Amino acid sequence: MFPLRLPLLAALVTVALCQYYDYDYQPVSMLGPSGPNCHQECECPINFPSAMYCDTRKLKFVPFVPTGIKYLYLQNNLIEEIKAGVFDNVTDTLRWLVLDNNQITNGKIEKGTIDKLTVLEKLFFSSNELTEPVIPPSKSLDELKMMHNKMTKFPSGLLSDKENLTSVNLQHNQLTSDAIAGAFKGLKKLLSLDVSHNKLKKLPAGVPSSLEMLYADYNDIDGVGAGYLNKLPALQYLRISHNKLVDSGLPAGVFNTTSLVELDLSFNKLQSIPEVNEQLEQLYLQANEINKFDLSSFCKYVGITSFSRLKHLRLDANNITHSSMPPEYSNCLRQASDIMFE
Ligand SMILES: *[C@@H]1O[C@H](CO)[C@@H](O)[C@H](O)[C@H]1NC(C)=O
Ligand SMILES: *[C@@H]1O[C@H](CO)[C@@H](O)[C@H](O)[C@H]1NC(C)=O
Ligand SMILES: *[C@@H]1O[C@H](CO)[C@@H](O)[C@H](O)[C@H]1NC(C)=O
Ligand SMILES: *[C@@H]1O[C@H](CO)[C@@H](O)[C@H](O)[C@H]1NC(C)=O
Repeated sequence: MFPLRLPLLAALVTVALCQYYDYDYQPVSMLGPSGPNCHQECECPINFPSAMYCDTRKLKFVPFVPTGIKYLYLQNNLIEEIKAGVFDNVTDTLRWLVLDNNQITNGKIEKGTIDKLTVLEKLFFSSNELTEPVIPPSKSLDELKMMHNKMTKFPSGLLSDKENLTSVNLQHNQLTSDAIAGAFKGLKKLLSLDVSHNKLKKLPAGVPSSLEMLYADYNDIDGVGAGYLNKLPALQYLRISHNKLVDSGLPAGVFNTTSLVELDLSFNKLQSIPEVNEQLEQLYLQANEINKFDLSSFCKYVGITSFSRLKHLRLDANNITHSSMPPEYSNCLRQASDIMFE
């Protein structure tokens, strides 16, 4: 047994670290001595000379970044401002900029800083005091994280030339539906968008047809427009839990699209089970006000190839019990290994 344990533990630790730092972060102490051009407050490992580590050291400013740096870690400091010129030697080399967990406001980001970065791929700017997004001119941006800020606006078209942007995280801000109405215009490769914990009254408009994951939990959404999902033929994961969805806000068949694999509508005010496609595998409806089990929400017909692929169905914290299911449910829900009523 013993030889097995170490790799398993190592794997668990790796997973834990990756969840905490969702970028490729290695503690400086594991990386050897510092290079010559490095800012005195930071470390630039000789065996990884394109990285400068300035994280977690009570810095109040962004230090001058020396020539050749591609990866810059500034998270977990007390930074309030970004002075003009600090990126002047890396405007066409800096690829990753990590500013998470500081105190930066829009007003204290001077001209001649982020607006000069032409090849930035990842901008991590979560847990600061931003009231609107800060977007570099780089067309190579592929990942943008600005969660846990105070953003109330997101100007239309700001991202429209980011042809490779695949992931945008804006959760825990104060964005309204109007504020993000044109935010995602022009994107062609966006796969994942998280706008949960904002002030949306409806799902975001104008999201690109490439989208595979849309998370909008914890907003004020009370309905979904007819045909909304028809414009998203690749969407697999849709989460709208902890909103204000009511039956009257859901046009017939609005969730009946073949691409959806997981649909989370838990913690809303639904009284009936919406129609879903046969291909859906996970459906979360717990903590609604559902008072009847309508099998036709899952199967209009039952046949040899015509049945629901649903595996997990949560109906706990509603007004129904196992006995609400008609006996013929097992022909339709053939693959449901897990139907929870309480
Ligand atoms: C910044 O670039 C200038 C001009 O190339 C160079 O002289 C200087 O040494 C660089 N400074 C650092 C810290 O890299
Ligand atoms: C987008 O990604 C492709 C494929 O990786 C790459 O060839 C292209 O140069 C990228 N575009 C930009 C503007 O970085
Ligand atoms: C979903 O849509 C398909 C195709 O339009 C239709 O055949 C099926 O009956 C619908 N399913 C439900 C549960 O309404
Ligand atoms: C729950 O369902 C029962 C039986 O259908 C019904 O009499 C009762 O009014 C329902 N309660 C609520 C809170 O909807």
